[in-house]
Amino acid sequence: MRLKTKTMEWTGNSLRLLDQRKLPFIEKYVECRTHEEVAHAIKEMIVRGAPAIGVAAAFGYVLGFREHKNGDTKEWMKQVKETLSRTRPTAVNLFWALDRMEKVFFENLKNENLGEILEEEALKIAYEDIETNRAIGRNGAELIEDGSTILTHCNAGALATVDYGTALGVIRAAVESGKRVRIFADETRPYLQGARLTAWELMKDGIEVYVITDNMAGWLMKRGMIDAVVVGADRIALNGDTANKIGTYSLAVLARRNSVPFYVAAPTSTIDPTIKSGDEIPIEERRAEEVTHCGGSRIAPEGVKVLNPAFDVTENSLITAIITEKGVIRPPFEENIKKILEV
Ligand code: MRU
Repeated sequence: MRLKTKTMEWTGNSLRLLDQRKLPFIEKYVECRTHEEVAHAIKEMIVRGAPAIGVAAAFGYVLGFREHKNGDTKEWMKQVKETLSRTRPTAVNLFWALDRMEKVFFENLKNENLGEILEEEALKIAYEDIETNRAIGRNGAELIEDGSTILTHCNAGALATVDYGTALGVIRAAVESGKRVRIFADETRPYLQGARLTAWELMKDGIEVYVITDNMAGWLMKRGMIDAVVVGADRIALNGDTANKIGTYSLAVLARRNSVPFYVAAPTSTIDPTIKSGDEIPIEERRAEEVTHCGGSRIAPEGVKVLNPAFDVTENSLITAIITEKGVIRPPFEENIKKILEV
């Protein structure tokens, strides 16, 4: 079986990834034939977005298994998993997908078709992602009123998943159900996922989108121009605290101040049941050039000190609801997240 979406293609022998570093100007695919090439693609953000990196890592695991030549397979696969894990620390979907692959590996160690079984599992994770996003979309669309303006941050769309998206899945489903919506896409400095990616994919779908700079959101909320905020997530703690792209926390504070509902749309695989609160979420720190440069040009003085945390954590009290494929979770989050994980 194969898989082919705009974001990624599994050819049977390689993983082709749309190079998101080059969007919106160039549509070019990068072909990964080894697990190390997949790890590089995740680290360098050729592929990005929590669900998409999880799926890419699963295919990387399959490629890694095929690369094994001699020696202990278990030891080799431990190394493969390690290489794929050591790419980006915040999105839990990466570890979730690799744990799932490893479980299948150990369960079928003696099976002579182990290679095919692993490939099937990776494809299953990929196809499930699309189904999950459609379910998130259906559940979330009910919360969106006809004629509303929705603010989103970063890119939690088809490009951040195998297809359809989480936050943008909610928007797509609302549009498919006949609702008229208008989207404000935060540009999302420093990496510009909003301006480059969200704007690109929504325009392709014919959905009305305005790019705004990150510092405009508060004022637009104050003027009553935003009806809801919908964002994705990289990791959700058991109490509902949510890590997402840097700047999400500021939006949540502004939304509360201006009585705008703040929704997180994410698959349940983004919930990390091993952590109680957001304090335990590791936050990736990325290179300084992302801040000192914009569009390839230096915008800050040479030698200046820089901070570049790629994510922040929004505490549960600022979140109106978490939209998952299994339903909409409302406060009290800890209790209701536990309930939904048991479903
Ligand atoms: O650094 P990125 O581009 O991988 O960050 C992506 C985000 O923060 C997304 O909002 C999140 O992964 C959800 S994607 C469905």
